[in-house]
Amino acid sequence: MNLRNRTVLITGGATGIGLALAKRFALSGNKVIICGRREERLEAARRELPSVITIHADIASEDDRLRLFQTVVSNHPEIDVLVNNAGIQNRPPPVNEPQDFKAYQREITTNLEAPVHLSLLFVKHLTQKHDAAIMNITSGLAFSPLAFMPMYCATKAALHSFTLSLRHQLRDTSVRVVEIIPPKVQTDLGGVGLHDDGVPLEDFADHAWRQLSLGSEEFGFGFSERNRLASREVLDQVFATLNPK
Ligand SMILES: NC(=O)c1ccc[n+]([C@@H]2O[C@H](COP(=O)([O-])OP(=O)(O)OC[C@H]3O[C@@H](n4cnc5c(N)ncnc54)[C@H](OP(=O)(O)O)[C@@H]3O)[C@@H](O)[C@H]2O)c1
Repeated sequence: MNLRNRTVLITGGATGIGLALAKRFALSGNKVIICGRREERLEAARRELPSVITIHADIASEDDRLRLFQTVVSNHPEIDVLVNNAGIQNRPPPVNEPQDFKAYQREITTNLEAPVHLSLLFVKHLTQKHDAAIMNITSGLAFSPLAFMPMYCATKAALHSFTLSLRHQLRDTSVRVVEIIPPKVQTDLGGVGLHDDGVPLEDFADHAWRQLSLGSEEFGFGFSERNRLASREVLDQVFATLNPK
């Protein structure tokens, strides 16, 4: 895939995996637009990458998604890559204990509804380009869940499924549909320190950049690469290891 002279929108691009991809796009001569909710994180990203354009937007809000779409296509009509990266991860109490269902809903809205809606909003615009892409960030946990965060894993499994269908439906268009499947990566996802035993962020981002440049449409790294390709039998073993009795 050509990774130069593109205009890229990365949701949640001010931190973690999104920021690591934003850096690589920006340093390779692409115009990069990022969005997020925390103004101070957007500002910090601007300080680090002065060319990056930031938009304050909460993708869990349908109004904000519509505003984000309108703002981007009006001000940057050449946009040709959408990266659905923003996500949240909750660790709710066991399902037979009192629950905050709204936390489940926020995960569904942020991790599934938003990337689906943004894909649908942008797809017509992208199909008019000579060469375009939608990239969805799922997870190795889409294939074998960690049972103590059931909704997070289910949203990623659903986004994986949606991505397969999106790719199939767009197969005869100029839009490539890419699924990036991270393993546990050292970011602040779900809270500071919870992912410190993951793979180093720069290692994962370098691998992702290489795979994107090679034109891979679906790829993981380490654990998630093995999960992505595993048989049901192996996934059952992975489930048992991840979720001891
Ligand atoms: N790290 C891992 O181990 C891992 C593994 C598999 C998959 N992933 C996926 O990788 C993606 C990036 O996560 P990360 O690990 O880089 O964690 P992260 O640093 O917490 O990044 C998540 C980003 O999403 C943004 N975001 C969350 N909710 C949002 C909303 N409603 N509207 C706009 N932006 C929102 C956050 O910014 P604000 O809070 O400022 O809005 C943040 O910049 C996620 O989809 C995650 O599920 C991560």
